[in-house]
Amino acid sequence: MTLGTSTTNNPEPLGTYLEKMRAELIKKRGIKVDELPTKEELDRQTNIKAQKWLAKQKQDFYSSQSLWPADVPVSFKFSDWNPNLQKNASTARDAGKQAYVLSKRLANNQKFNVAFVGAPGVGKTSLALAILDELKSQKSGTMFVSTAELAGLYQQKREYADIQKRLSKIEESMKKVDVLLLDDLGTEGFSAFNDYGVRTDMQSLMYRISNARFDFKNNRVRNVTLTTTNNTQEQLKKMYDPKIISRLVPREPEFRVVFNGFKDVRGV
Ligand SMILES: Nc1ncnc2c1ncn2[C@@H]1O[C@H](COP(=O)(O)OP(=O)(O)OP(=O)(O)O)[C@@H](O)[C@H]1O
Ligand SMILES: [Mg+2]
Repeated sequence: MTLGTSTTNNPEPLGTYLEKMRAELIKKRGIKVDELPTKEELDRQTNIKAQKWLAKQKQDFYSSQSLWPADVPVSFKFSDWNPNLQKNASTARDAGKQAYVLSKRLANNQKFNVAFVGAPGVGKTSLALAILDELKSQKSGTMFVSTAELAGLYQQKREYADIQKRLSKIEESMKKVDVLLLDDLGTEGFSAFNDYGVRTDMQSLMYRISNARFDFKNNRVRNVTLTTTNNTQEQLKKMYDPKIISRLVPREPEFRVVFNGFKDVRGV
């Protein structure tokens, strides 16, 4: 009867055997041992990978909470910006440049809000999206919220219980996300609802969001909000409580990309 080879009598200890195997492998593959990463370097790389994975999870979550016009996600990059679509190409180039410089400052962890103000179809959402795109590759957590879609959900919430739940989740995300793009602020204004022109439940939501995104202790922006609007600051302050507007929409020209004299290029 054959019982197989006994390994207990093997005179070579396992450690030595493995060491030999390793040496042979290194030789065979031409590995330069001195150039192999140290344990610290491997730990550092593992840490970076874990952070990237976490950031992606966070971004995927906030993307899933985004509210796009007609549910269709849109993207735009600075390289897509074509100043020649406007008659005054140099002003259009300047608007693109202003937004680009602001995106670099935000990527550098400076905290401020930005407003994109002008008539329909002039490129406000596009440049705001370009900032979002820049920050997505550097930071975690960007979210797009179409104010009109949000108002639409508020209109339906009494009829559908699941919309109420969805709105709660969206609100939590709008409070916490690193960079929020509030698109078309002001279109939700209806003069029939109250003195401000926006339904009261949406007023309260915006109030809670503007408070959560502002650091009162240090009197500065906590989380960045980019807003696009067809309305002036004064018009917005009539639709909403002025406190909400002053916390979300900057007054300083430095942080306002204004599209004066631009023509509607939608569909051009
Ligand atoms: N300078 C530009 N270069 C390339 N595409 C542009 C430019 N300006 C506008 N567009 C395109 O025109 C369309 C309208 O632009 P966008 O949606 O940014 O306008 P808007 O100012 O946000 O309009 P609204 O007030 O109606 O929301 C988009 O498809 C956008 O990509
Ligand atoms: Mg727009």
